[in-house]
Amino acid sequence: LFSGTAFVEGNVSSGMLSPRLQRAMKDYMSANKHNVEYKGQRKHTQSANNLLCQIKAQAKLTTVDGSEEPFSSLGWEHLVPSLPLEQLYRRGGQGPFKTCAVVTSAGAILRSGLGREIDTHDAVLRFNAAPTDGYERDVGNRTTIRIINSQILANPRHRFNTSSIYKNVTLVAWDPAPYTVNLQKWYANPDYNLFGPYMEHRNLHPDQPFYILHPNYVWRLWDVIQSNTKENIQPNPPSSGFIGILLMMALCEKVHVYEYIPSMRQTDLCHYHERYFDAACTLGAYHPLLYEKSLIQRLNTGPEIDLRRRGRVTLPGLSTIDC
Ligand code: C5P
Repeated sequence: LFSGTAFVEGNVSSGMLSPRLQRAMKDYMSANKHNVEYKGQRKHTQSANNLLCQIKAQAKLTTVDGSEEPFSSLGWEHLVPSLPLEQLYRRGGQGPFKTCAVVTSAGAILRSGLGREIDTHDAVLRFNAAPTDGYERDVGNRTTIRIINSQILANPRHRFNTSSIYKNVTLVAWDPAPYTVNLQKWYANPDYNLFGPYMEHRNLHPDQPFYILHPNYVWRLWDVIQSNTKENIQPNPPSSGFIGILLMMALCEKVHVYEYIPSMRQTDLCHYHERYFDAACTLGAYHPLLYEKSLIQRLNTGPEIDLRRRGRVTLPGLSTIDC
């Protein structure tokens, strides 16, 4: 599935999925929970370089900075970190990081032995509740940034306030607003309530960098996927994985992504840290994962053997692209 030419040319099709996943996808299409109405272009045959330039132009990294309502009235200008995320790790006049690793939570990373390689990068991005303790050989032990969805903040099961995995790292949270973004409506009715826990955490730990991605950023990333795909993709936000990869392309000169495009270790084991099996975790049901992955594979500049053996994709940082 992941080595076919359709896959790298934007012609990826839901027909490649099992009947069960196709049905799940159709159900999400007809539910259209976030009221997506795509009116943009379709240019699924453009070159990788044009695609990178499109990303640079249309999906500039933005976080909630307190300058817009209702956040301005709530005093968020003084609640959010004083340095924007892009400036947090600045080295002189340069971008934040030279090399970055994005470590997805896929079960296929088990028994990869990639931990040491992952830890050599200047920055390491991890997702949600993915642990390193006990898995260091395969996933490494350094974490620079952790991207978390709003369920991590809202669901007590994750022990967001006490668990050590959310300490001593930069946190970046996100929650899907309606497609036609209205911050007032989003604040009143988020998917999972992240705003209360965010404010509380900022007040308790003002020195820990903690950002919320602007919902416009999330949906402009979705637009990039749709505009480069022939089929209609799921009208739901991209996965944390895709958001994290694009976030690191904005912060790093070179990005290595591990086990997003499945290696030869591909498995239905959903996460490396959980005994739960479901192909949807790798191929998508709610999230447009299949299409996201096709797009990322089109941008891969690394050799085929890195993909198969290490599940590793190499991507250029956006600052290195001339448009
Ligand atoms: O499940 P969770 O969203 O926390 O996992 C982090 C990311 O890793 C996902 O958003 C997805 O992009 C990627 N992933 C994957 N295949 C899996 C599990 C996770 O590509 N089996």
